[in-house]
Amino acid sequence: MEVSTLVLARTRAELRDRVAAWRRQGQLIGFVPTMGALHQGHAALVRRARAECDRVVVSIFVNPTQFGPNEDFDRYPRTEDADRALLESLGVDLLFAPPVREIYPPGDSTRVVVGSVAEPMEGERRPGFFTGVATVCTRLFALVSPDRAYFGEKDWQQLLVVRRLVEDLGLPLTIEAVATVREADGLALSSRNAYLSPAERAVAPLLHRCLVEAAEALRAGEPFPPVRERAVQRLVRSGFAAPDYLDLRDEGTLVPLAAARPGARLFIAARLGATRLIDNLAVPLG
Ligand code: PAF
Repeated sequence: MEVSTLVLARTRAELRDRVAAWRRQGQLIGFVPTMGALHQGHAALVRRARAECDRVVVSIFVNPTQFGPNEDFDRYPRTEDADRALLESLGVDLLFAPPVREIYPPGDSTRVVVGSVAEPMEGERRPGFFTGVATVCTRLFALVSPDRAYFGEKDWQQLLVVRRLVEDLGLPLTIEAVATVREADGLALSSRNAYLSPAERAVAPLLHRCLVEAAEALRAGEPFPPVRERAVQRLVRSGFAAPDYLDLRDEGTLVPLAAARPGARLFIAARLGATRLIDNLAVPLG
């Protein structure tokens, strides 16, 4: 019989004790921050961390500061038992699943505000979102003190924001990017896919298909505006709301582009019924 080695920490003190012991032994610590409702996209992050580090810490914390007043904080899926079973099967050493007061203690009033890459797209559509993400990531990095932290490319802009804050604050860790995991039909895995009705789930892969087709047209030399227009029309005809954005941008700076060039990436966010889906895709040239 397999004996579980997954340790659960609910408090900062429990987490710190465990991690400090590993640090004293000179072990390399990998960290995967999550909000739970884990899926194979998270599993890919954990597997990378497991392959590269001596110890793997995963956090599950539905972070209230990154949800707007009309967003889904209360109904965000919470599946801790299933999450723990998955993390055990993946050989995670420590799960940090704190209550809100451990991350935001009474009187809490410090926020981390990132400029530049946090401003367009999600930053425009979800005011305060990246401040919430940057604040919780900074606090989690301070508590876990990892050598490496793993983030999915599905949330490309979040990845850039976290890299920016690590660089700007001189935090002693590296941020590792892990490729987006997709269903067989192309839909990027996301905890929010659980909100889709069966009919919406059947339509949802069109988001990725439109990006693939747009990337092909751009690669063939078409300028972005007509490519964009075609994709928007197709999405709207199929039941999506008009996208919050469908942009072509430089993947490092997020500067908008009018046509493909090296480092170009497509970004989209669109609602299908009550569910907001996001995705992105590199535009390979040559
Ligand atoms: O991507 C997420 O799940 C969250 O934004 C993160 C990075 C765990 C911060 O709450």
